[in-house]
Amino acid sequence: MTGGARGEDPQAAADLDDPARLEALDPTDFLGAVERLPEQVREGWRLGAAQRHLPPGEGIRGVAVLGMGGSGISGDVCRAVVGPRSPVVIEAVKGYELPGWAGPDALVLAVSYSGNTEETLAAFEQACERGARVVAVAGGGRLAELARRRGVPLVEVPGGLMPRAALGYLAMPILAVCERLGLWGSGAAVAEAAELLDQRVEECGRKSAIGVNPAKQLALRLLGRVPVVYGSEGLAGVAAYRWKCQFNENAKVPAFWNAVPELDHNEVMGWPPGSPLGPGFAAVVLRHAGEHARVATRIDATAEMVEPGVGFVEQAWARGASPLARLLDLACLGDFTSTYLGLARGIDPAPIRAIERLKEAIERPR
Ligand code: F6R
Repeated sequence: MTGGARGEDPQAAADLDDPARLEALDPTDFLGAVERLPEQVREGWRLGAAQRHLPPGEGIRGVAVLGMGGSGISGDVCRAVVGPRSPVVIEAVKGYELPGWAGPDALVLAVSYSGNTEETLAAFEQACERGARVVAVAGGGRLAELARRRGVPLVEVPGGLMPRAALGYLAMPILAVCERLGLWGSGAAVAEAAELLDQRVEECGRKSAIGVNPAKQLALRLLGRVPVVYGSEGLAGVAAYRWKCQFNENAKVPAFWNAVPELDHNEVMGWPPGSPLGPGFAAVVLRHAGEHARVATRIDATAEMVEPGVGFVEQAWARGASPLARLLDLACLGDFTSTYLGLARGIDPAPIRAIERLKEAIERPR
């Protein structure tokens, strides 16, 4: 177990390039699901586009995407990708309550991989009661059952994965539905995203050795430090949040995130040079070529200012031209990095016992 070491650890480095050791640490092949994100993106898009019984697109005033955790991130993806190009408001709803504006002229997309998440089910019921135009995305469970019973269009996606390892199956159907209803013109974005993900997997997959694998390298640098992931308003902020959650769940470490420009008005105060706490943290800054010009200037200045106060700052740049490709490219790099960090710590990245224990602790009879 190498979890206590800070910075590169020769044993952990050797483990990441050793197929037998990876197999022993990862008996359910969580890493394999990360490596199959490009296929999931293509298949998730196909499944969403194949849904023939969608509600009418005319007169939709807002889109609410319901979902928690690994399913809920698909709402953030939708907000970041569709939001800036859509005349209607897009909101990711992460809780029991539907926003007040969501009525008959709202499109409500309920997303739960297990289909059994109580917050999502509660908001889904409200949406049905209010007469909203509801579509469900699920890998089975109660949401799939209720959708069938109520005649709500259902995109049923392949099950058997951890929800957070099903990003392509969860995010792409809702984007496909948005496109079908005239809320988003995907153009070549989906094909571009999938192709770039193929490249990322080639570069960051298990077969790519540490010397040429940026995800393994970053994971090793992060050993023993608390990751702080910085993005910026829009897609890189969503990617930063995804990285943070993936560090929590895959590597079982505390992690934090924030976005420029907001963090320039508060959090930047938290890293004074010479503070004894700072070296225990490392900042990963997520960048892309489409940043607002002033945001780009701010990120450069912020990274420079933060650097003396933390263990290290590393920047990671998205590839691609479309916002979707950039966001998924950053997410994929974070999925690999967090999975390798878990493995480098000698930990199985798949189980999420604390989340399950919490769900059990508050379970109530139906
Ligand atoms: C598990 C994970 C969790 C779940 C969340 C909601 O891998 O990432 O955050 O996604 O507890 O469950 P689902 O996705 O089944 O609605």
